[in-house]
Amino acid sequence: MAEFSQPSELMDEIVSLTKRRGFIFPSAEIYSGLSGFWDYGPPGVELRENIRKAWWQHTVRVRGDVVGLDSAIITHPGVWEASGHLAHFADEMVDCKKCKKRFKADELTGNKCPACGAAELTEPRKFHLMMKTFVGAAEKETNVAYLRPETCQPIFTDFDLIRGSARARVPFGIAQVGKAFRNEINPRNFTARSREFTQMEMEFFCRAEKADEWFAHWKDYRREWYGKVGFRAENLRFRDHEKDELAHYAKAATDIEYRFPFGWMEFEGIHNRTDFDLRQHQEASGKRLEYFDEETKERFVPHVIETSAGLDRIMLAVLCDAYFVDEAPTGPEAREGGRAEEEKRTVLRLHPLLAPAKVAVLPLRRKLAEPARKIHAELRRFMACDYDETGSIGKRYRRQDEVGTPWCVTYDFESPEDKKATVRDRDTLVQERVEIAQLRRFLQDKLEAYLI
Ligand code: GAP
Repeated sequence: MAEFSQPSELMDEIVSLTKRRGFIFPSAEIYSGLSGFWDYGPPGVELRENIRKAWWQHTVRVRGDVVGLDSAIITHPGVWEASGHLAHFADEMVDCKKCKKRFKADELTGNKCPACGAAELTEPRKFHLMMKTFVGAAEKETNVAYLRPETCQPIFTDFDLIRGSARARVPFGIAQVGKAFRNEINPRNFTARSREFTQMEMEFFCRAEKADEWFAHWKDYRREWYGKVGFRAENLRFRDHEKDELAHYAKAATDIEYRFPFGWMEFEGIHNRTDFDLRQHQEASGKRLEYFDEETKERFVPHVIETSAGLDRIMLAVLCDAYFVDEAPTGPEAREGGRAEEEKRTVLRLHPLLAPAKVAVLPLRRKLAEPARKIHAELRRFMACDYDETGSIGKRYRRQDEVGTPWCVTYDFESPEDKKATVRDRDTLVQERVEIAQLRRFLQDKLEAYLI
């Protein structure tokens, strides 16, 4: 079971739903799991992929000044030496001598163990967070390599190759989505602090004198994205770092935080990293990482604005933000025309772009399965589409509500006569009859209204 920094019944309910409906499981659960590692089941894979796509669309595709990279997970150890990770990427850890639990020193208040209350804590000691492996046949020191602890460093090492091949001119950005690994001392808060996770990072290269402007731009641009994918504004906050909080490479930083049921937590950071990284790699590799401006004939090392988001943390925030338990049908449409669905229902009000399935096709009874399957076969070519014929129609609606499917199409006994099916809206519970021949257009129009 996941551990939380603060007990929360709501969080327990969300964890239970994600397991029951197949979004997230402990990795290798039949062997009791491995702390800090998670597997994503069928709707989880779709939801993650939809978040990633929505990020890529907004960060890369619709802009024209950001290009992509997919780099190796294991990188030359020199990269981590130059970036400072080998020397500094460590946390302080403390052990409780009584209950043997281990904690990050900066999360403790006072000298008592948060788990058992004993005042028997060890002195803090450094613990390196990078995961090691060996490249090649022999397990010797010279063959040691590291799994990347962040996805941004290869962006800096590949800067010149990408700039040249993409014929990119400063200002421009490079984006990457991929796995990162950190040997966290105390993984907890479900998937929010794991040992294997996915980052979505973008490094934007600009002139030093324009860096403040671009920093402000990316803060606004990222805020816009959170609005476009449906986050509730009251659950988000942007927190600027005080000068004494800044990382050694940063001139300015903002954390984007989400109000999880276990408390506020950062899920994205925006940094002005100056020219620190390019200079470090330039010095260590002996290769120039400068930009030559054809217009002004100047040569300089660009400064960098970074947006660094965690896909797993964003996914968890999306699930928390969308989780509702309705006491009764809601919305004016439900009162006016919708069929009353009296009982309490659990619903994930996922943004339609993010929802794992956009629509589910449900025959009212099994004997109507064949024509319903035909509708499903047609719709699935155009959108993620589920099909379900088992259990009462009420139960099937509940199942779809719990995985956040925005629309259900029910094929009933009138359908063969009037060539229509009922489309039921997850949020308003309004049901309307739509011509079967028009269903695809009807749903695609709805989805297009949400495009980024
Ligand atoms: N390149 C900058 C960088 O890596 P970071 O604040 O260490 O900055 C960025 O990480 C984001 O990556 C975080 O905001 C978070 O969403 C995600 N992240 C970091 N450590 C994580 C972990 N152990 N588990 C899950 N996500 C993590």
